[in-house]
Amino acid sequence: TTVYVPRDAAALSVGADEVAAAITREAVLADRPVRVVRNGSRGMLWLETLVEVVTDTGRIGYGPVTADAVPGLVKAGMFDGADHELRVGVVADLPWFRAQNRLCFARVGVTDPLSPDDYEAHGGLTGLRRALEIGPAATVTEVTDSGLRGRGGAGFPAGIKWKTVADTPGEVKFVCCNADEGDSGTFADRMLMEGDPFCLIEGMTIAAHAVGATEGYIYIRSEYPEAVRTFRRAIDIAYAQGWLGDDVLGSGLKFDLMVRVGAGAYICGEETSMLESLEGKRGVVRAKPPIPAITGLFGKPTVVNNVLTLASVPAILADGGAAYQALGVQRSRGTQVFQLAGNIARGGVFETAFGISLRDLIEEHGGGTLSGRAVRAVQVGGPLGAYLPASGLDLAMDYEAFAEAGAMLGHGGIVVFDDTVDMASMARFAFSFCAEESCGKCTPCRVGAVRGVEVIDRIVGGEDVDDNLALLGDLCELMTDGSLCAMGGLTPNPVRSALQHFADDFTPRRATQ
Ligand code: NAI
Ligand code: SF4
Repeated sequence: TTVYVPRDAAALSVGADEVAAAITREAVLADRPVRVVRNGSRGMLWLETLVEVVTDTGRIGYGPVTADAVPGLVKAGMFDGADHELRVGVVADLPWFRAQNRLCFARVGVTDPLSPDDYEAHGGLTGLRRALEIGPAATVTEVTDSGLRGRGGAGFPAGIKWKTVADTPGEVKFVCCNADEGDSGTFADRMLMEGDPFCLIEGMTIAAHAVGATEGYIYIRSEYPEAVRTFRRAIDIAYAQGWLGDDVLGSGLKFDLMVRVGAGAYICGEETSMLESLEGKRGVVRAKPPIPAITGLFGKPTVVNNVLTLASVPAILADGGAAYQALGVQRSRGTQVFQLAGNIARGGVFETAFGISLRDLIEEHGGGTLSGRAVRAVQVGGPLGAYLPASGLDLAMDYEAFAEAGAMLGHGGIVVFDDTVDMASMARFAFSFCAEESCGKCTPCRVGAVRGVEVIDRIVGGEDVDDNLALLGDLCELMTDGSLCAMGGLTPNPVRSALQHFADDFTPRRATQ
């Protein structure tokens, strides 16, 4: 009998290792030969630890399982897929799962993340093989035709970026993967690195082949020790398999890949700051232009892409850009790995084509708030994203539709708040977060964020409210127009949207409150 127990950090945090140990122990006691495979997470975080037992009818899930529940489960016949109050049925048939279109996350939670055989058996390397066959220029065209846009947040067309790097002369070029996933409510990069690291390695190798790069770096935030461990092991295995190195898959392609670990600064997720950090310097933003595609790491032409962008590429090459382009709406093509977080009954990752409404994601798939209270505000796109009121839930997940609504899709993180949220304190948090994380290079951000906290404190304290509200408006305008990068430039988003949709929360309170 084969039993899957996730090794994803989310599952580990609720005792997955103990569950795996208990299963091994109980199997011995029951005299039952059981093979425990540690997979990634299926992304149904409310069911973690989700144990899956392979049966003739499919992989039967039990969750959430704790180590204490294992003896009872085994006694009830879990190894044969028997009934139990924790039994959720065939995992692939669960409504949450069936409603998705998993391209980027196709293997996450399904395979053993560090098994090269599993990887190939589930379609791995098909994309890279095809890229090697059709050559660099056709590979870039395929990515351009797919309509893939940067999943880090800004949504810049990946094919155009790759073409810029490919067309820039240079003996040395780099591919850098941004895995400094700092946005609140986002965890898809981590889950991919822990659940299907070879997919990202394959995506980076395809990018290297497409643009003529020979070296790659992945910049992983230090807060993800499990992802760092898994990815390092995956790289070692990939070298041993001949998937990386001097002669990738016997094609003559040379590509070396290295992991670098960040030190905990949000701003190092900004691409130029990340490049500084990769060069061993302090993570301070560089002025653009020049763009990294032309003058990047160590001044060389560099592809900088997010984890999900690069991990989407193998499927695009395997199935063709047109198949990917057929999904989605308007200029938002393909699928996005949405992440449901905050006050939500069923949190986790949900990969589907662009165009789905925020309401469907939160209410239908996410099950509404965990508290059972009404949704009051939703923040999409991280701490610099706008707050949408409940009346904005019908917005389609589409880069342009969000931009029109004064919001942004960002990295696809969705954080839900119920009607107990105090939006003035959320606006204050945006400024205090910016003050904490600003790299300090430009004044509107470095000083503006600190002043912003003070102005909001004066408003809710009832001090010259009208004057201070006007001052807050001016400050937001100055930060938007005068900041060098998105950190200072986007911080006014949550503030302005909170003021616009939740003005009542900015009324003076008693000092004792
Ligand atoms: P940007 O719009 O300046 O650039 C987007 C990308 O396109 C960059 O890689 C840039 O170098 C590239 N680019 C621009 N013009 C190009 C050209 N002509 N040829 C080739 N490449 C070109 O946006 P930026 O400042 O890089 O990112 C801001 C976004 O980051 C925000 O919208 C936000 O959603 C997101 N963000 C994501 C976070 C995360 O944890 N994933 C955290 C914070 C912000
Ligand atoms: Fe640094 Fe803030 Fe200026 Fe960005 S906006 S360069 S984070 S000080």
